[in-house]
Amino acid sequence: MHITVIGSGYVGTTIAACFADLGHDVTAIDIDEEIVETLNDGQSPISEPGLDDLLETHAGNRLEATTSYDAVPESDVTFLAIGTPSNDDGSIDLGALEAAAEATGEAVADKDERHLVVIKSTVTPPSIETVLEPAVHRGAGENENIEVGMNPEFLREGSAVSDFLSPDKLVFGASSEWGTDRLHTVFEPLLEDHDADIVETDPQTASMIKYANNAFLASKISLVNDLGNICKEFDLDAYEVMEAIGLDDRISEQFLRSGVGWGGSCFPKDVNAIIAAAHEEDYDPAVLEATVEVNDRQPERMLELLADHVDLEGARIAVLGLAFKPQTDDIRNSRAIPMIELLKEQGAEIVAYDPVAVDPMQERFPDIEYVSSAADALDGADGTVVVTDWDEFATLDEEFDTMATPVVIDGRRIVQPRDEITYEGLTW
Ligand code: UGA
Repeated sequence: MHITVIGSGYVGTTIAACFADLGHDVTAIDIDEEIVETLNDGQSPISEPGLDDLLETHAGNRLEATTSYDAVPESDVTFLAIGTPSNDDGSIDLGALEAAAEATGEAVADKDERHLVVIKSTVTPPSIETVLEPAVHRGAGENENIEVGMNPEFLREGSAVSDFLSPDKLVFGASSEWGTDRLHTVFEPLLEDHDADIVETDPQTASMIKYANNAFLASKISLVNDLGNICKEFDLDAYEVMEAIGLDDRISEQFLRSGVGWGGSCFPKDVNAIIAAAHEEDYDPAVLEATVEVNDRQPERMLELLADHVDLEGARIAVLGLAFKPQTDDIRNSRAIPMIELLKEQGAEIVAYDPVAVDPMQERFPDIEYVSSAADALDGADGTVVVTDWDEFATLDEEFDTMATPVVIDGRRIVQPRDEITYEGLTW
């Protein structure tokens, strides 16, 4: 099969490389010449384990990158993987995706065979019918032999390649049997080796499945954090409680880690987008709004715990962990951002450390101090807040001895408590 993938960001690059690995011929199309060159050199424009190896193997062979849409009509299916950034009200900005949808339509305007355009980007159900399908058909003009489908992505940052190659489920949103069959053909080589559940549905339901999936997981964490805060008030350990409830198959043991909350490029954006889309329909999604509220409050609770032990005005506070989760340098919506803002408001002097995410945070907050090790951050500090669960924080020990006052507020249950330090877990 020949597949065209429009957009070579995080999702586009991953799926292009993985489709090539499944044996398809892939043309990756992006407006950015630098990204195109990087891909053709067999290198990844993003950092994701396993991706460099796949690109090195397939670039110039089964995978080609270009800025031109010429390959679109020759391909059997086109995937649109263009970013949909958030507007101020939480809704998604469809501008770039709409332009790519129209350009794809134009590219297949003279094609004789039926063509499938599959949306990979996360978009709200109504926007498929009101914005994206019309854009494709506007581009295609008289050619009505074009179908728009939806195939949402459930990849996690840091494990995107392995998540692609061993999915729990595949969601095929198509409006005809032909469209569903075509999606089956795309994923057939993957399904030869892996047992994944397949959900066949229409494009709008497929897009709602993506939002429901992320909203459910984010809400699960917020619920665990809400219950965790109550545990803390009762002097109980939320992790002991969650371990027990996780034994119930209906709850499952995953995503029960309470702490400073969820961040990243997906949960915050997707939860806010589905809330905004619900408001558009005059529906008030009370649980999802509470999900966001609880998440916003967790860094504040961390600060309160710290303030119980340290007078923050002028105090030197070490922030350990800046990335939104370990194994990534991504700081988008990292809980470290509100944490730093709150500490600044209190007049604290901040010293920050992360194994890989110092540079992006330095751009966001140029006016705080950054150091190159946790030990350096702790040296002379009056207190520390642990925001990301990097493994190396689990081995910290004598480093705490150099603190001016060894107060440790752990937002991820990663530090090992010891007698010499004043240790507070956020929910335990
Ligand atoms: C998330 C989803 O897990 C993917 O399935 C989805 O495809 C992706 O969003 C997306 O929409 O693109 P990701 O943002 O990479 O993936 O990160 P996760 O590993 O899910 O973690 C998200 C946040 O939740 C992190 O800040 C993490 O620290 C936090 N978290 C996770 C908790 O606080 N507790 C937990 O128990 C689990």
